[in-house]
Amino acid sequence: MAPRGHHLTEVALLASASADLAAAGAGEREGWLDDPAVLTSLGPRARALAVASAARSVLVVVPVGGGAGLTVKPALGPDEGRISAVEWVPLGGEDGAEGEEGVAVAVGTDAGWLLFYSIAGDLLHKQVYGNCFPGPYALTWITKDSIYPAKILKLNFRERKEHAWEDSGSDELSVVFPGVIGRLDGADLQRMLRKSFQDAKSRLWKDKFEEEDADDEGSFGKIPFQIWNISKFGSCADAAVVGLMPPPLLELQSSQRHYCAITVGEDAVVSAYRLSEDRSRSLVGAILSKGVAATFSTISSLSKILWRSEPSPPKKSRPKPQSFAKTSPLTCLKDSPRKGERLTLSPSGTLAAITDSLGRILLLDTRALVAVRLWKGYRDASCLFVEILLNKGKASSSMPMEHTKSDYCLCLAIHAPRKGIIEVWQMRTGSRLLTIPCPKGSRILQPSTRFSSSPFSSSYSPLEVYLFNGDSGQLSVLNRHIL
Ligand SMILES: *[C@@H]1O[C@H](CO)[C@@H](O)[C@H](O)[C@H]1NC(C)=O
Repeated sequence: MAPRGHHLTEVALLASASADLAAAGAGEREGWLDDPAVLTSLGPRARALAVASAARSVLVVVPVGGGAGLTVKPALGPDEGRISAVEWVPLGGEDGAEGEEGVAVAVGTDAGWLLFYSIAGDLLHKQVYGNCFPGPYALTWITKDSIYPAKILKLNFRERKEHAWEDSGSDELSVVFPGVIGRLDGADLQRMLRKSFQDAKSRLWKDKFEEEDADDEGSFGKIPFQIWNISKFGSCADAAVVGLMPPPLLELQSSQRHYCAITVGEDAVVSAYRLSEDRSRSLVGAILSKGVAATFSTISSLSKILWRSEPSPPKKSRPKPQSFAKTSPLTCLKDSPRKGERLTLSPSGTLAAITDSLGRILLLDTRALVAVRLWKGYRDASCLFVEILLNKGKASSSMPMEHTKSDYCLCLAIHAPRKGIIEVWQMRTGSRLLTIPCPKGSRILQPSTRFSSSPFSSSYSPLEVYLFNGDSGQLSVLNRHIL
């Protein structure tokens, strides 16, 4: 770990992975990472970086700890679109240890297809590369499903474990389309992916690929999901499920869950909706709501029955999109000609930072649905929340101090590429703590998951922000201490 300036620490030099990254466009020209069609996602605990290129139709995964990278060319047919979103999905479930290294990469396309790739070595010969993934890398095609036939603008996996003492909902993968949001429950998704992974492995062993190929859709269960129409105030450019919300007054008795979604877009800078979960429409949901422990085999056999009972669709025709669950518009903020561009949530979902087309950044309290702060003059900015230790003294290397969540202060990191800086502002109303120069062709990134599934690590993992310089290949982390 080499110090870099005062506030960034180099984590890895991915220049050594440049051959892999070149497949996604690295090194072709300076500032290749400024291309918005190059998509990046940092894996859980920053163990690996995924870079996808829509133009090249390629997904590259490089382990941060060194070792061989992986290049995937998703087999996308002409009606399946181009890569438009990429996100990591941790597979670690309740069953602990084996899931520890388990992770999948979700790829969304501009025709609404969702693909999951697993990255795993031969688990029977557990060899660990640079404390990263068991190697050598092997790739398994797991599942491919169209949720809604439109461009996937964003895939976002969110952990909700932090507030275990209250019902803050479960982990989820949200899928954002223009005017539509989909939600896949994290546990359902992980269960399904782990099962598919096992199936794929056993197929490999039995060497009966060809047999299965003829029947590939039937052999993969369908991952249950819900979709909501959130275009009452116009189509959206970005959206997020911010968390659970109380039911409407007249439905207090209902056991349904309600989520709050925030959207940003062209016609309304910000708007908010209540999304009601419709359990009656989903067979899997109905089982879950009866409190029956739905093991995977139940789901799998049910979905098989469903597949069997339906007349087999003609080849190449896509399944009919699922119908929308109930949405209630809550509020909207119109401020023409400003257009909402991007949205970032704080870990608890109570704050959202929203960038707009005129270089403004709005901090929104998502519970009260009011703007609490405004910054101006940040065109093309990207924002990430980060947790910083303020005035806590530097932990000496000989005796690292354990910090709890309450030691950390929530801040917002703003990357302003036109100014070539990253600023760190204390939440909600605090001052600017830092300004760091930031080279062109860099991006700020954040792992989608940070909580260790290992029961042995008791220390709190703060929310961190990384800086990836595409031209030098340097990956750095923003120091958590600010003196
Ligand atoms: C979504 O709702 C809006 C009105 O709220 C409607 O105009 C639009 O057609 C709906 N979209 C779909 C795909 O049903």
